[in-house]
Amino acid sequence: MRLANSPPPWLVGRLRPPQHMSSNMANIDEVVSHIDRNIEQSIERLFDLLRIESISTDPAYAAECRRAADWLTEELNRLGFQATTRDTIGHPMVVAHYEPPDCAGDVAHVLFYGHYDVQPVDPVDLWDTPPFEPQRVSSNGTERIVARGSADDKGQLMTFLEASRAWLDVTGALPLKITILFEGEEESGSKSLGPFLDEFGDELKADVALVCDTNMWDAETPGITTRLRGLLMDEVVVTGPAMDLHSGYYGGVAHNPIHILSRIIASLHDDDGRVAVSGFYDGVDPVPADVERQWSALDFDEDAFVSDIGQTSQSGETGSGALEKVWARPTCDVNGIIGGYTGEGTKTVIPSIASAKISFRLVGRQDPETIREAFREHVRGRLPEGCTVDFISHKGSAAIEIPVDNAHLSKAAAALEAEFGTAAVMLGGGGSIPIVRSFRHVLGMDSLLIGFGLGDDRIHSPNEKYNLSSYHRGARSWARIIDCLSS
Ligand code: BES
Repeated sequence: MRLANSPPPWLVGRLRPPQHMSSNMANIDEVVSHIDRNIEQSIERLFDLLRIESISTDPAYAAECRRAADWLTEELNRLGFQATTRDTIGHPMVVAHYEPPDCAGDVAHVLFYGHYDVQPVDPVDLWDTPPFEPQRVSSNGTERIVARGSADDKGQLMTFLEASRAWLDVTGALPLKITILFEGEEESGSKSLGPFLDEFGDELKADVALVCDTNMWDAETPGITTRLRGLLMDEVVVTGPAMDLHSGYYGGVAHNPIHILSRIIASLHDDDGRVAVSGFYDGVDPVPADVERQWSALDFDEDAFVSDIGQTSQSGETGSGALEKVWARPTCDVNGIIGGYTGEGTKTVIPSIASAKISFRLVGRQDPETIREAFREHVRGRLPEGCTVDFISHKGSAAIEIPVDNAHLSKAAAALEAEFGTAAVMLGGGGSIPIVRSFRHVLGMDSLLIGFGLGDDRIHSPNEKYNLSSYHRGARSWARIIDCLSS
């Protein structure tokens, strides 16, 4: 057991950060010590948020999404922000503002973004503990916070709130003008985002957006993500016979929509693992040589990456390495298939309908709507006569790359180095955060993508976790980033 005043293992040997561009060295040391002293209360606050079942994709959880938004609004108001829960055409947004007292007007202004919504918990029987009853679990010297949303993204957004709290508690003020935006639909396509930014864009605009929804390189090496893949999701519903049929009466004559769908799905990739939809690779560029050099220097353990997920070989395009595949290549995945009898026992049926949920990760200049059309043509061209297909559209977003040669990024990198004692590395990101493109294209503002998640956090999977060290050092890092951005 650890004594109350002794540092946790991840801080041992790191309590004397190297010199950095702090505007006020005395303050920042006190602020991070305050975070250390109050970590238990911070965890309790995170647990309260994690108990809220804010699954955005399922309308049954709409009230829980609002409860999460209201919880954050209240918390921000308690801290001294001017926060409100704003209704949208979907789940509410939380918007909050903070202005330092006596601010002369030339103080830096940041927009901090996070999302309070989470992915569905299915299959729930694969969780070791209930997904909305957060637990602290220790194994092999690592303490983890286990709950849906712990890493994606409630734990991450709370790191910024806790850093702000520490600044306010210790110095009575934050050294920056801060606007906060918490979204409730990031995990389900962000349908309210466009109209919301059209209406409130001017209120949200700042010098730079800080987005805390990405990973570190590893538990000891901080990262700044400089590219994200885009995403396109479509649902395909194939109808064969007009009604479900006895497979003895009609088997051999009736088109089975599950067979049709399976053939279509099988046709989506060629033998080299490339996506076989016409024009799919238009706008996909090779990784620039300087970026490739940076990634090669990362010392990525490809075999461990594969064996950590219980596999002994890779799928995907022949000729690309695993890091390139997830950070820089486009993909197509079937996320779910529905059709026929799936209950206990057997049923000799030919179903009338079968459907699939399909998603494409996009890179470079690939255009989501062009790919949607090409995909639909691909499907239509493979339907037997008399069978029909319907599609259900979900909003798409293109990939984004973030410029690295700017003062905000240099300051944030210095702050991360001060916290971790090792330089921050520039990372790719296989996932998607649609709002980052809107910040650039609608608000004219670039983002700094800094997060403290780890590759083994199991986001979107059963037993999602966030290491306690990610939470603690994430808060300490934001305290330092806030300091560095103010100078
Ligand atoms: N935090 C992730 C995105 C991410 C994960 C970026 C790891 C970089 C590294 C984000 O919350 C997420 O899961 N987004 C969804 C968006 C989608 C449902 C529109 C995704 O990528 O599947």
